Amino acid sequence: MTLNVGVIGVGMIGQDHIRRLTQVLSGARVVAVTDVDLNRAKAVAGELAGARIHENGQDLIGDDDVDAVIVASWGPTHEEYVLACIAAGKQVFCEKPLATTREACERILDAETKAGRRLVMVGFMRRYDDGYRAMKDTIARGDIGAPLMFHSAHRNATVPGHYVSDMIVNDTCVHDVDIARFLLDTEIVAARVVKPRRNSNAADHLTDPLFLLFETADGAIVDVEASINIQFGYDIRGEVVGESGTVELAESAAVLVKRAGGYAGRIPEDWRERFVRAYDRELQEWVDAATAGRSTGPSSWDGYAATVVCDSALAALRSGERVEVSLREQPELYR
Ligand SMILES: NC(=O)c1ccc[n+]([C@@H]2O[C@H](COP(=O)([O-])OP(=O)(O)OC[C@H]3O[C@@H](n4cnc5c(N)ncnc54)[C@H](O)[C@@H]3O)[C@@H](O)[C@H]2O)c1
Repeated sequence: MTLNVGVIGVGMIGQDHIRRLTQVLSGARVVAVTDVDLNRAKAVAGELAGARIHENGQDLIGDDDVDAVIVASWGPTHEEYVLACIAAGKQVFCEKPLATTREACERILDAETKAGRRLVMVGFMRRYDDGYRAMKDTIARGDIGAPLMFHSAHRNATVPGHYVSDMIVNDTCVHDVDIARFLLDTEIVAARVVKPRRNSNAADHLTDPLFLLFETADGAIVDVEASINIQFGYDIRGEVVGESGTVELAESAAVLVKRAGGYAGRIPEDWRERFVRAYDRELQEWVDAATAGRSTGPSSWDGYAATVVCDSALAALRSGERVEVSLREQPELYR
């Protein structure tokens, strides 16, 4: 069986997911697209055999020919489309963030809980990266003892002109927050943020770098270095320190070249290059699960927790104080 997918929002990542579905993965075809920029939707549909263009996301979700939906529009629009998919009983892959406010995420949790089954997967692709999966397996086997600390670094060469300081937390470090919860298998309960000396390569309106410090429910510490103008490439680092060992991400270069008294390997240009296989695996697993009428991967609860933790980190950035994270009680559906 082939899964008929409708895509809402065909900007950068929407188009990348369409490329994936049509050229890389198996078991799905894109039958409908929509975008507030209808010309963009038309241009994208023109490259796809037989894809319909809908005037808006609600019409696309209501299309009987659409089995499942990808939401890749701007963050503040996600809630409306995810709620409509839940109401229609359709599986939905929602790019992060699930929604931009705690209240919006809670409305999604309420709707999905009421529906009585999981319908939402959130696009936290790091969980599908070979390196992070191997780290999680190492921790789960008990090879390094109980985890005590997770050091994460998220370094971007540069950021686009529309990027503002809040995005360091909401758009960039949200991935570190999610992977910390995934690796350590616990919730984050408090946040602090400190500002190192400014990087002179950063635009004047940016507070770069930032150092985020989180406490988990079982007393572990997570630190995240966010550097968004590091110049040399896209560099993702991660190390978990356990009671009797450590596990860390290896360099991501496929090969190392040794010559002339030195050695070198390629550093990815950006997240698309670094996580290309993770994105492929993420979406293939969603297609397979949706085809079987199941849900998989990061849930609405994971999307909710990430949004609430980032809100606390932003409050900590503004106040300079330690800010507690308060999550509602986890519904049975997500346990
Ligand atoms: N998982 C990841 O690593 C990752 C990476 C990049 C982006 N994202 C997320 O994907 C989403 C899109 O990001 P992007 O970089 O592709 O942005 P983008 O601006 O390139 O594309 C967004 C598209 O959505 C359209 N749009 C806006 N409002 C809409 C609405 N109400 N209905 C239909 N279409 C609408 C815009 O016209 C645009 O074409 C964001 O939520 C972003 O955070 C996730």
